[in-house]
Amino acid sequence: MCGIVGYIGERDATPLILGGLKKLEYRGYDSAGLAVLKNGQIEVRRNAGKLVNLEMNVCEQPISGTLGIGHTRWATHGEPSARNAHPHLSGSGEVVVVHNGIVENFIELKEELVTEGVVFQSDTDTETIVHLIEKFLSVTGDLESAARKALGQLKGAHGIVVFTSREPDKIIAARIGNAGGVVIGLGEGENFIASDIPAILEHTRKLIFLESRQMAVVTREDVHISTIEGTVIHPQVSSVAWDPVSAEKGEYRHFMQKEIHEQVRSLTDTLAGRVNFKEGTIRLPQLNLTVEKAKEVEKIVLTACGTASHAGMVGRILIERIAGIPAAMEIASEFRYSDPIVNDKTILIAISQSGETADTLAAMEEGRRKGATIWSIVNAIGSQAMRVADGSISMQTGPEIGVASTKAFTAPLVDLYMLAILLADLRGDLSVQERKKLVEDLRLIPELAGRCLDREGEVEETAYLLRESKDMLYLGRGINMPIAYEGALKLKEISYIHAEAYPAGEMKHGPIALIDENMPVVAIAIKDPWYEKMISQIEQAKARGGIVVAVATEGDERVAALVDRVLWVPEAPWMLSPVLTSIPLQMLAYHIATMRGLDVDQPRNLAKSVTVE
Ligand code: M6R
Repeated sequence: MCGIVGYIGERDATPLILGGLKKLEYRGYDSAGLAVLKNGQIEVRRNAGKLVNLEMNVCEQPISGTLGIGHTRWATHGEPSARNAHPHLSGSGEVVVVHNGIVENFIELKEELVTEGVVFQSDTDTETIVHLIEKFLSVTGDLESAARKALGQLKGAHGIVVFTSREPDKIIAARIGNAGGVVIGLGEGENFIASDIPAILEHTRKLIFLESRQMAVVTREDVHISTIEGTVIHPQVSSVAWDPVSAEKGEYRHFMQKEIHEQVRSLTDTLAGRVNFKEGTIRLPQLNLTVEKAKEVEKIVLTACGTASHAGMVGRILIERIAGIPAAMEIASEFRYSDPIVNDKTILIAISQSGETADTLAAMEEGRRKGATIWSIVNAIGSQAMRVADGSISMQTGPEIGVASTKAFTAPLVDLYMLAILLADLRGDLSVQERKKLVEDLRLIPELAGRCLDREGEVEETAYLLRESKDMLYLGRGINMPIAYEGALKLKEISYIHAEAYPAGEMKHGPIALIDENMPVVAIAIKDPWYEKMISQIEQAKARGGIVVAVATEGDERVAALVDRVLWVPEAPWMLSPVLTSIPLQMLAYHIATMRGLDVDQPRNLAKSVTVE
């Protein structure tokens, strides 16, 4: 959840670290800090609140040096405050640590250290790490061995970066488990460390991703990787094509707004190289899918959290309808505790923007343990979910910075549609005409998404009417039921308005009691197979005095006459309609939140990737 940046080279580390943290602030933003080695001494600056407070602190009390580490925090142990902010210093002031993860046995470790006379300065679990390293440093005499010994004592999942003033020529970084990534960026006479690629992308694209239980000793000229136990590793150096400019806000007020508008491009990129419209075929080579494999599959389980789980709900319908394979969507945080019925005839598909969500990674491990084939649909290149899967679909959306996921929701909808066609085709379940028709339906999707975006002004007017709501209800049916969930989640997380989503047919079984003039209802009533049912549900809501906003198909006068406001979407094949119906709901949430004066890119209590359980 936290963001980490490290630098060793010839340049001033402070602006490089602050610049990197700025790109990672979406990972956590309750406090931030940095430590720089200056004239042989470690100097630390830490502040509660957003990064800007640290930047002002550094302006007032400048520090510079050519080696340093920084951190932006999302609190787990200890309130968000300057004293709990990272980096944490050892008692002597000679060792300093930043950390992402939870030290699960920190109470035992802390008690032991306190008995030995260590005085703690914060309430964090992280501080145990720096004291442990210092303790072992006095025995081993070198940072590398001391770090190995200390890491051996930690329970839980961790990303850790440490240096000592006693060895001013190196930084050590380590990864244990799934507490977020640790990536080493290779430069000329300088090297970088980060929890996430965007932090260092403007400096290098040559990257080494640490696997679990690996450690990197990073100097100005070299990077040595080994396991925590000491076995030397010869890592693969990856090259990342992401454009650093795409991680900037540009002309938009917020990353979320920019990312909503990037959907035409991201959907185009999603299709590029995968769809052959002339032949009506789909290619997803990174799945390594063969005819034999496609034919032997008996069940597909989709697993994910939050917004990605709503994409999974749509995917379940697509896979059953197009490929005729029984499919289930399982919330990742529940999956491994539910003794799932999964075997070697199952394909488990994890969907994740970050590829680092701890619950999703744990679900993948559980699927693997039970013999399933593991695939992932992931945005962050090189992330754990991409690396550990047997096959992967890259979302091709570029960096998503806004905490509220938008373009990384619509891209996997198309990925899952393409996957369902490919499976059906390889299993011999589609005629050539059926396959060509399904593939052809994809052609206009980016353009139709653009038409939804062109209606932002109308959405904004509706947002104005709804901006002071206390509660809202989202209704949908069939393939657009998950879009009701997604619309409600978008609204909740950035506007702090209570929103609930229901399959519209469930209303009469209880929730209809909530409807009055103070409970606006957003109903997805496009011309899909559930259209007539949605009309009758809207009528029921209107009969009870509800204010109804409908997401409807352009030109549908019947819906327009029935409801208070309409968010129009162009007509599209029903199986692809969620790509379009989700866009006005993203814009609605965005504009309501900005009208309420809220920070939509960094909503309270949230972080972009959730690397703790
Ligand atoms: O990185 P992931 O896609 O695995 O993240 C899953 C959820 O944490 C994420 O979708 C979350 O719900 C977003 N804030 C929703 O906008």
